[in-house]
Amino acid sequence: MLVLGIETSCDETAVGIVEDRLTLHANVIASQTDLHAPYGGVVPEVAARAHLEQLLPTIDRALVQSGARLSDVDAIAVTHGPGLVGALLVGVSAAKGLALAHDLPLLGVNHLRAHVEVAQLEYGDLTPPLVALVVSGGHTSIVVMDEDGTFRQLGSTIDDAAGEAFDKIARFIGLPFPGGPEIDKLAWGGDPSAYAFPRAMQHDGSYDMSLSGLKTAVVRELRRLEAAGQEPDLADVAASFQEAIVDVQLEKTLAAAAAEDIDQVVLAGGVAANSRLRQRFAAACETNGQRLVVPSIPLCTDNGAMVAASGSNLLAAGSSAGIDLAVDPNLPLAG
Ligand code: KG4
Ligand code: ZN
Repeated sequence: MLVLGIETSCDETAVGIVEDRLTLHANVIASQTDLHAPYGGVVPEVAARAHLEQLLPTIDRALVQSGARLSDVDAIAVTHGPGLVGALLVGVSAAKGLALAHDLPLLGVNHLRAHVEVAQLEYGDLTPPLVALVVSGGHTSIVVMDEDGTFRQLGSTIDDAAGEAFDKIARFIGLPFPGGPEIDKLAWGGDPSAYAFPRAMQHDGSYDMSLSGLKTAVVRELRRLEAAGQEPDLADVAASFQEAIVDVQLEKTLAAAAAEDIDQVVLAGGVAANSRLRQRFAAACETNGQRLVVPSIPLCTDNGAMVAASGSNLLAAGSSAGIDLAVDPNLPLAG
């Protein structure tokens, strides 16, 4: 069964094609980064308009890449939340049109769940229970996928998402948008212990996190140096900031795994592309004898393959949506 997945929840127009849940045939992304870069962040109206222009050509490119025709496709999957409402509407409307015109089942995909489930394309079937750290531009949470495939949220950020913190600090130090990958690169030349930035709530026993204080601490330190006429070593700042984020995510995720007696950890979402996060989790999981599941970088950041994979699971479970499928900008992962 061939599933075509459409992703338009934020600033990537993306289409993936997956066969029988596990085999990836196409993964095409029309990125809008250049359109949003001058504004230093995603502009919702610009995103929706660009999706409108890019979606049909992106579907065509995915079909060409897969070698399939639209008539070979068995179902249409689409992200219906969470995300930007106008952006989501473009994908969902197009998916409904395709499903109606070709008399195909419509599958409503949860973007966050898809970030986790995409791992099945590289690791084979996920075998819950597992603990997942879902870290993206809009979300930061620690969740458990129980044996029956349902998600339970253990904790989340109480203010900024991890990707948001990366993007804001990058912008403050003059790096281009999106800032996460830029900080990652810059940090390679820096000393992660050069600055003792705060690790809020690290040892509070909860699985919640707070990142806005860290952001403020970095900004305050840079202003202090400037006022003192000192030139900051930006690589050291980037490395120390990144280390503070990674320390908290690592400690909380592994504490959750231990408390739940689960020996499988999944990293998911755009920030899971961070090289230091991947390196620290790989080392810790090896020491603890835990299995680490972490998708390759193109499957961590937003993509269409994840929507096709998650939609494929819905199709296999027989849970297709009606043509009245609604967008939900705040769709939760759990519940
Ligand atoms: O999952 P994603 O592609 O979109 C959302 O669903 O939000 O995540 C995008 C976020 C952005 O904030 C971006 O800066 C961040 O992921 N990101 C990274 C890296 N690559 C992407 N953050 C840190 N290090 C990276 N290498
Ligand atoms: Zn995402």
